[in-house]
Amino acid sequence: MTATKPINLWTSNQHARDYLERADSISHRNEGEAALLEFIPRTVRRVLDLGTGDGRLLALVREELVRRERPDTEAVAVDFSPAMLEAVRKRFAGDSAVTVIAHNLDEPLPALGEFDAIISSFAIHHLIHERKRALYAEIYSLLKPGGVFCNLEHVASPSPRLHQEFLQRIGFTVETEDPSNKLLDVETQLGWLREIGFVDVDCAWKWRELALLVGVRR
Ligand SMILES: C[S@@+](CC[C@H](N)C(=O)[O-])C[C@H]1O[C@@H](n2cnc3c(N)ncnc32)[C@H](O)[C@@H]1O
Repeated sequence: MTATKPINLWTSNQHARDYLERADSISHRNEGEAALLEFIPRTVRRVLDLGTGDGRLLALVREELVRRERPDTEAVAVDFSPAMLEAVRKRFAGDSAVTVIAHNLDEPLPALGEFDAIISSFAIHHLIHERKRALYAEIYSLLKPGGVFCNLEHVASPSPRLHQEFLQRIGFTVETEDPSNKLLDVETQLGWLREIGFVDVDCAWKWRELALLVGVRR
């Protein structure tokens, strides 16, 4: 018997473009992004953004670092969608401090060096649960001691009713929601981070199914 391949529509250019058109209008995301910026260490030198899309979150982090007078920080942006890779390359064209890497996060991360901060927004929930956990362990091993993992994520609701309410508030229904989503509850993910060895693990911000999960490498 052959296993069914999990659905992931993000290699479709149309799927990526549809998202980019509505990305700014997603309720409360700005609050989650602002909360994430607070966790970027003062002394950051290297940042990795997983599932970067058009580089939206990485651009916010880089703006924050300019405000902190640390514009010399290097960044690596990873995605596998051709449309997103084109968009992020365009956004950071001419910025030699940003390296864009095409990589499918279903596969183990390539050798990317060590990072002070690993960030991600609304991407890891497209991986199957087993791979999410494995990726969290890989992230831990890529962080320098004291480095931080900040995952602004789409998580599961505690009940179908709350899931429907969330979808309604962002303009979707159970029928139209992205079939690529593989939502997982906050508690399980925080537990995994602790088991892997992260400390100061917390859900640092949450609005319905949008949550900021944070952990620090010991
Ligand atoms: C909802 S978008 C978020 C993009 C961006 N981080 C943001 O906040 O706007 C999800 C992103 O995850 C990427 N993604 C989904 N599955 C992936 C995979 N298996 N490997 C690499 N990237 C993936 C998609 O291509 C897309 O750019």
